[in-house]
Amino acid sequence: MADLSHAFSIEDLRRIAKKRLPQAVFDFFDGGAEDEVTLRENRAAFERVRLLPKVLVNVAKVDTTARLFGEDAALPLAIGPTGGIGAGRPGADLALARAAKAFGIPYTLATPATASIEAIAEIGGRRWFQLYVVRDREFREKLVARARDAGYEALLVTVDLAVSGKRERDPRNGFVTPYRPSWRNSHDIWRKPAWLMDILRGGLPQMENFAGYKFSSTAVTDIVTADGREMDASLDWDYLKRLRELWPRKLLIKGVARVDDAERAAAVGCDGIVVSNHGGRQLDGAISTLESLPSIAGAVGNKMTVLLDGGVRRGVDILKARALGARGVLTGRATLFGVMAGGEAGARKALEILGSEYERAMKLCGVRSSAEIGPDLIVS
Ligand SMILES: Cc1cc2nc3c(=O)[nH]c(=O)nc-3n(C[C@H](O)[C@H](O)[C@H](O)COP(=O)(O)O)c2cc1C
Repeated sequence: MADLSHAFSIEDLRRIAKKRLPQAVFDFFDGGAEDEVTLRENRAAFERVRLLPKVLVNVAKVDTTARLFGEDAALPLAIGPTGGIGAGRPGADLALARAAKAFGIPYTLATPATASIEAIAEIGGRRWFQLYVVRDREFREKLVARARDAGYEALLVTVDLAVSGKRERDPRNGFVTPYRPSWRNSHDIWRKPAWLMDILRGGLPQMENFAGYKFSSTAVTDIVTADGREMDASLDWDYLKRLRELWPRKLLIKGVARVDDAERAAAVGCDGIVVSNHGGRQLDGAISTLESLPSIAGAVGNKMTVLLDGGVRRGVDILKARALGARGVLTGRATLFGVMAGGEAGARKALEILGSEYERAMKLCGVRSSAEIGPDLIVS
């Protein structure tokens, strides 16, 4: 098990994960689309924000909790959906769900996860399900019914993946499906014995929720294209209305960048949106999520729960997102690097780092509760 005692930041966990994983797997997690402009911009937007701290506020005790859909979470944070992550460590999805439960925040299971809807439900804890609207209508509606029956509290419909983004690191690294051994990827694998032992012990992870799904082709293709090819590109507002009828609990769409789309989501009866560009993995050149946030939150923040993801790597980022109008954030790579670095302990470490940084940032900004964080803390 990796020594995490020297991990003080999410970036440290990223470095440990990078050492442990074959390049192709690490790049699948770390990379973005095309020139990775949006991937970088998500981070840069957080780094550009300047804070206006208040002083002489009694912050001996602060309350980091926040209400997410009527229930308190330990932080204004949930773990977001990441598919295919068993390729980096068998059991990674379960480890993330357990860490989220222990920490007291919701966990989101991805449609292409390497754990099933039911296995995650057995862990207990707050759970949300992310839906990819795959081509097979009957199959996808069964996924929705399974999530409903397994007590998932929210359905997040991802809407920014009509086709897959062009993530060039994957085909360059030979990260293709089905797997094709080559000198290059064999070399990559043999240099990472800790990862290899875990895979040999745990078995090659499967996209459990796709059991029984008839893929449209088995042609060799990079892993992302394979995934994206199964999406129903005809998904539109009418089908979202149908999902609203099918899903009895909280409904969100994930992947919103524009005010008019956010308003439409509210009109359809969504309970929330995730301002997201898929972590820079879809449309390169898309606006950073933090830049989209203020106008969207201003337009619909009083009607629905506005969440944000993309580039969250520090506790202070959670504070910045809240100050700019988000009710909370989702993590993608931050907790993913944690679980890749050290399994469940690594996932917990990532959450502890974000939590303690958030609490420190609150104290240094002179705010005593998540509810007190407002736009006055930001230099406009
Ligand atoms: C390896 C990986 C797999 C992902 N898989 C999914 C997925 O299956 N469904 C989805 O809606 N988003 C998926 N995402 C996007 C994340 O949910 C989230 O939007 C993004 O990672 C946020 O950016 P961040 O990683 O900078 O925090 C994935 C992201 C990564 C890094």
